[in-house]
Amino acid sequence: MFKLKIKTFLRKNYPNLYEIIKIIYSRIIFKRKNNIKFSGWGLTTTQSPPWIGTSKNKTYIGFKNAKDILYNKIKQNKFYLSQFYSHPEIKNFDDVIEMFEQLDYRHYIIYYSALLAFENTHSRNIVECGTCDGLTIFFSIAKYKEDNNFKAYLYDSWSEMKSEHLLTKKEKEKAGDYKYLNIDTTKKNLSDFQSNLIFNKGYIPEVFKNSDNPKNISWLHIDLNSSMPTQESLKLFYPILEKNGVIVLDDYGWDGFEETREVVEDFFIDKKITFLHLITGQALIIKR
Ligand SMILES: C[S@@+](CC[C@H](N)C(=O)[O-])C[C@H]1O[C@@H](n2cnc3c(N)ncnc32)[C@H](O)[C@@H]1O
Repeated sequence: MFKLKIKTFLRKNYPNLYEIIKIIYSRIIFKRKNNIKFSGWGLTTTQSPPWIGTSKNKTYIGFKNAKDILYNKIKQNKFYLSQFYSHPEIKNFDDVIEMFEQLDYRHYIIYYSALLAFENTHSRNIVECGTCDGLTIFFSIAKYKEDNNFKAYLYDSWSEMKSEHLLTKKEKEKAGDYKYLNIDTTKKNLSDFQSNLIFNKGYIPEVFKNSDNPKNISWLHIDLNSSMPTQESLKLFYPILEKNGVIVLDDYGWDGFEETREVVEDFFIDKKITFLHLITGQALIIKR
C-alpha cells in the first residue's frame, strides 16, 4: 500500500523521475533480484542462454560470430534498424542495442535452422518473406555465406501493409504498419552480400507473378504478420523446398496471430514434416 502511494505520488508530481526509476528497476534491479539470465520478446528465463560463456559447440560459435559482427555494424551505423527507431519506446542507441539483444533467442533459432538446412540439403538458395531491414536474414546468411554461390531471395513490400491482404477485423488493424520502410536501407545493410541477393519488392501474393523466383530452396523464413500472405508463401515455396529443408515461421505461436496459426496448421495437415512449436513463438519445420 505504502509502495503504491509513493508510486502514485512520483508519477503525478515527478513524471520524468518516475520513468527513469521504472526503467532502472525493470532493466537492472528486477533481473538481479530474480536471477533472470535472459528476458525479451515475451520470453524470460533463469537459465543461462546458449550463447553466454564459452563453448566448443559450432552453433554457439557461429551464432556468436554473427551476433558480434552485426553488433559492430549497428554500433558503427553500418546497419540501420528503421523498425526499431520507429518504435515509440526507442529513444537512443542504448535502447536499440537492448531491443537487438532481446531478440537473441529468436536469432539463435534462425542461425540454428540455417545450419541445419545448410548441412542437410544441396540447394544453396534461401528465401525470406518479410525482410524489413534485413535483420533476421543476416543470421541465415551468416551460415550460407560459407558457400560463395548462395542466393538469398528476399520478398517484401517495403511499404505499408494494406487492408486487402488482411482478412479479419483484428488483422485489418495492422493496415498502415511498416509505412516507414525503405528498400535502400535494407540494400545498404546487406551490401556485403550484394551479388548473392535477389530483391523482390511488392505485395505477396501478387509480387510472386513477376518476381525472380528460385527453382529449388534449402531454407525458408516467413515473417509477414498476416495469414493470407503466409499461406500463399507456403503454397509457392513448400513444393520447391528440398527434402530435409527447413522452414521457420516467426508468427505461428504468437497470441494475437491465431489466423496465421490456423492457415499454417491446415496447410501442413497432409504434409510429411517434423513440426516444433518453440517457446519463442516461432515454429521450426523440417521437410521429410
Ligand atoms: C515483422 S516484419 C519482418 C521482420 C524481419 N524479418 C526482421 O528482420 O526483423 C514484417 C514484414 O512483412 C512485410 N509484409 C507484410 N505484409 C506483406 C505482404 N503482403 N507482402 C509483402 N510484404 C509484407 C512488412 O513490410 C514487414 O517488413
